[in-house]
Amino acid sequence: MRIAVAGGTGAVGREIVQRARARGHDVSVIARSAGVDLRTGAGLDAALDGVEAVVDATNVATLRADESAEFFRTASSHLLAAADRAGVRHTLLLSIVGIDENPHGYNAGKVAQEAVYAASAAPWSLVRATQFHEFAGQIAGRARLGPVQLAPRARTQPIAAAAVADHLVGIIEGPPAGRTRDIAGPREERLERMIEAWVRRSGRRGPVVPVSLPGAQMRGMRAGLALPGPGAIRLGPTFDEWLGAVPRG
Ligand SMILES: NC(=O)c1ccc[n+]([C@@H]2O[C@H](COP(=O)([O-])OP(=O)(O)OC[C@H]3O[C@@H](n4cnc5c(N)ncnc54)[C@H](OP(=O)(O)O)[C@@H]3O)[C@@H](O)[C@H]2O)c1
Repeated sequence: MRIAVAGGTGAVGREIVQRARARGHDVSVIARSAGVDLRTGAGLDAALDGVEAVVDATNVATLRADESAEFFRTASSHLLAAADRAGVRHTLLLSIVGIDENPHGYNAGKVAQEAVYAASAAPWSLVRATQFHEFAGQIAGRARLGPVQLAPRARTQPIAAAAVADHLVGIIEGPPAGRTRDIAGPREERLERMIEAWVRRSGRRGPVVPVSLPGAQMRGMRAGLALPGPGAIRLGPTFDEWLGAVPRG
């Protein structure tokens, strides 16, 4: 079937695109770098032409609640309206484990995004995942002070973006299911250790300094509010297994 992947160039989006194509689907990518802007809706109708199913894996890099909420509300509203016009039969949203318990900072935007889906008449499914193994590199890239790498402290049970993508492709191939079971990696990790391991794997030798970032969102993550509940599906590999397969820098 023809599937559109919103955010199809991102950490998880590119894995979804690759897997969907490997399973024989015809995939359309929605991203600014592919000529489609979800903030304005430009290029969206053309990207959804003939599309039966959509996976929403768009993102904004911010810890600010207002910026995050504004982005996700606007982008999801444009996406769902265009999907409705195109006669899309199933839209799947990727969200994050624990956001109800910790609805602060960036997570405020994910709560707002889920609310847009819940209030729409669209046929949708929702999967919440824990942080990706790739999150270590994403955070490392945003937390450098010259030669010093800051490593924010947090508890997480990370999952490989590839495992998330496999799961999502299975869900989008089925009928709309509303909220489905959460997914998580196999074991709990400390984010600061993941960042240090990722930095060393990348070949960097400078200091890596654990820090406790201010703000309710990161405080909540240190308290374990991003960890999965007992009902979550656990999917490997572990962070160390995944990192071992990343080419050395
Ligand atoms: N990262 C994690 O650990 C994690 C864990 C659980 C759930 N999630 C969720 O998974 C989703 C994807 O996260 P990610 O880390 O894979 O994201 P990412 O690597 O930051 O990629 C973001 C994607 O969104 C696209 N995008 C951004 N602004 C856009 C716009 N205005 N119009 C169209 N496309 C736009 C980007 O493409 P362009 O830049 O080309 O526009 C890119 O393809 C997010 O909703 C996030 O909440 C992430």
